[in-house]
Amino acid sequence: PKLIVVTRDGTEHEAEIAGGQSVMEAIRHAGFDELQAVCGGGLSCATCHVHVDEAYFGRFDAPNQDEADLLEWSENSTACSRLSCQLPFSDAVSGLKVTIASED
Ligand code: FES
Repeated sequence: PKLIVVTRDGTEHEAEIAGGQSVMEAIRHAGFDELQAVCGGGLSCATCHVHVDEAYFGRFDAPNQDEADLLEWSENSTACSRLSCQLPFSDAVSGLKVTIASED
């Protein structure tokens, strides 16, 4: 599936990445290590924070309580914020556009 990543400098990058992994892993495998994902998907760091394009936001299950709590503490949260380690990347969301959130 296709993934579009907007990096912190505002540049849009398009990549074709294997599905069956999290959006966080897909972003990192595409080479964008400014998405730190310090805890490796353990839902404890919030450094995998992204803003999901509106057109795709509703295609993911709602965040669980732990994710919602972490997002609440993140300074740059918006209505489209998610922790990318909690989002499955697959053909169902091909074309997904995510913006890497600024660091708090
Ligand atoms: Fe740490 Fe997602 S990688 S919360």
